[in-house]
Amino acid sequence: MARAPESLELDTNEEVADKALDRDCTTLSRHVLQQLQSFSPQAQDLSALMNRIALAGKLIARRLSRAGLMEGVLGFTGEVNVQGESVKKMDVYANDVFISVFKQSGLVCRLASEEMEKPYYIPENCPVGRYTLLYDPIDGSSNTDTNLSLGSIFAIRQQEGGDLNNEAADLLAPGQGQIAAGYILYGPSTMLVYTIGRGVHSFTLDPSLGEFILTEENIRIPEHGPVYSVNEGNFWQWDEPIREYVRYVHRTEGYTARYSGAMVSDIHRILIQGGVFLYPGTLPKPEGKLRLLYESAPLAFVVEQAGGRATTGHIDILDVIPKKLHQRTPLIIGSPKDVAKVESFIQNGH
Ligand code: AHG
Ligand code: MN
Ligand code: MN
Repeated sequence: MARAPESLELDTNEEVADKALDRDCTTLSRHVLQQLQSFSPQAQDLSALMNRIALAGKLIARRLSRAGLMEGVLGFTGEVNVQGESVKKMDVYANDVFISVFKQSGLVCRLASEEMEKPYYIPENCPVGRYTLLYDPIDGSSNTDTNLSLGSIFAIRQQEGGDLNNEAADLLAPGQGQIAAGYILYGPSTMLVYTIGRGVHSFTLDPSLGEFILTEENIRIPEHGPVYSVNEGNFWQWDEPIREYVRYVHRTEGYTARYSGAMVSDIHRILIQGGVFLYPGTLPKPEGKLRLLYESAPLAFVVEQAGGRATTGHIDILDVIPKKLHQRTPLIIGSPKDVAKVESFIQNGH
């Protein structure tokens, strides 16, 4: 191959270096402003909100990275949360982290989480902060004590109703109204994936910089993928159509099972490689296990923005009108063709 003239080579190398530097400088807060192409107050708010969520992610990731070396990080607290689930020390820590990072931020007046029966108000923010943060501080808690993948899930909504002592009735609105949503994945590296309704973008925490740096912009989920992700231990507790779907998968070539116990990891894999994640209702829990407002709806927003789908089997997750804060919902989420296949078993029996 002919060698490029020296000047051209130099340009190319410079361009490469410029691109690398530009990418290193594409932090989360800058990316939000780029997305909105504006420095309006709303754009500044969203950028600052994402920056605070990133700080929460860094604090949680730091603690997890040393968990086995520190006293009092792993194990249970002995308490049971509003969901009836045993609370882990990391659940409490991560829950408090989100509260702390939003104190005196002037951004978030109210936080609602899996670990708190009622929303938590930050009165000093309420005169100006018109946003609510909904979050699952640690998703996949059962992985905590064995050093396996975990996540945090978040959504931002506009705060509509009154402030203190409000029963949070304005929160009981469909997920279509979410302003932003995403997750942090604590895996071999820490990643943050978010959407503000303009595509889905992933960032990786560079520990040497302490910053989330852009990894991939405008992620598109494959139309169809090989993975099905479901807890098959519940097989005999599902309705017949779900059992039939799983039997179909067993006898059809090209499927492979992956289930980590943390849906943030499982859904992240599906976002990149395609497939479907299911947590259907069971006999003792017809609504399934996952919570609508701070688990299913934020992930549905992300996956739909990447070209995927999320449904209860009968209605799109983002159209479900919640009746209560900690409402559960069956969830089928992932590549559009795979979600449609499960739906067809539920609705038509095949
Ligand atoms: P959490 O740790 O927030 O309670 O959520 C765990 C969820 C989800 O991440 C995971 O896919 C599922 O529960 C696992 O539940 P099973 O053990 O019932 O499969
Ligand atoms: Mn969870
Ligand atoms: Mn949780």
